[in-house]
Amino acid sequence: MKTTKWMWAAATATMLAAPMSALAQGELVVYCTVQEEWCRPMVAAFEKATGIKVLMTRKSSGEFYAQIKAEAANPKGDIWWGGTGDPHLQAAEEGLTDPYVSPRLSELQDWAVRQARAAQFRTVGIYAGALGYSYNEPELKKRKLPEPKCWSDLAKPIYKDEVQVANPNSSGTSYTMLATMVQIMGEDKAFDFLKAMHKNVNQYTKSGAAPARAAATGETLVGITFQHDAVVQAVNGAPVKIVSPCEGTGYEIGSMSIIKGAKNLENARKWYDWALSAEAQAIGSQAKVSYQVPSNKAAPVPAQAPKLSQIKLIPYDFVKYGSSAERKRLLSKWDAEVSTAPK
Ligand code: G6P
Repeated sequence: MKTTKWMWAAATATMLAAPMSALAQGELVVYCTVQEEWCRPMVAAFEKATGIKVLMTRKSSGEFYAQIKAEAANPKGDIWWGGTGDPHLQAAEEGLTDPYVSPRLSELQDWAVRQARAAQFRTVGIYAGALGYSYNEPELKKRKLPEPKCWSDLAKPIYKDEVQVANPNSSGTSYTMLATMVQIMGEDKAFDFLKAMHKNVNQYTKSGAAPARAAATGETLVGITFQHDAVVQAVNGAPVKIVSPCEGTGYEIGSMSIIKGAKNLENARKWYDWALSAEAQAIGSQAKVSYQVPSNKAAPVPAQAPKLSQIKLIPYDFVKYGSSAERKRLLSKWDAEVSTAPK
């Protein structure tokens, strides 16, 4: 009895003296695919709320998909948060991620739950955003070029070397563009368009949002990205104009998945439930680094977020373009026909 009392007192004293982190419930390895500026405050808020120590790295969607596949025999990551849905769906189909039905599913928009159902709950939607492009207005005037308004404009010879976009192998943004073109134009015309636009591309970047930064500084005239990535630049004062292309455009359901064989599975589930909460989904817009539409219905939609209801969105087929066979096929075709096309 005495011992028990003493032990209780000692344990209480330790708990009171210990900072939150020392009471840590272990660690969590987060593979983060949104902008680093958004990854960081998310990690800090989660650590504060739970006492769990987070080890985070940022890479693009296609890069983490490839890494998780390469690490499948000995997984190093626990949770993959953010990035376009297509590679998350592909990872789900290939059994690289773990099913989990969060108690928060009922708080989410239908599109986020549909994403989860399509993957037998191996992934879930955390935000949505439309594709488009932005251009630097003073640079356009300086060059005396007409305002581009459509996707087809970006293949015109007057924009030679003026367009920047990511490589679809590494970037989910760019894969969304590839799949969008196929859905808008049909496959043959889409590849003709991409080959013609290739002559205008000054650089295929690794990360999807990089061209928005390059358009903001005038390093490129036009940058193809999600529209919300260009909003970040505009909010920071860059003289960019954001275009919703006239033919219509595709969109992403940014997703989150638990990695199969995660060493910190319980903590990964804690992150998962927390990241679906309205509070966690407000962090990005509060920090003025994210202008996506959040998936939790109660999370505030940032005032500057592109209004999806006012954009001509195509009925993007996530199941088809997120399937392993289709994503592999389109990427190999892009490698063989577009990246090597004459300039
Ligand atoms: C940016 C966007 C996200 C998108 C991500 C994809 O961070 O803000 O909405 O999901 O890019 O990144 P990636 O580098 O794979 O194109």
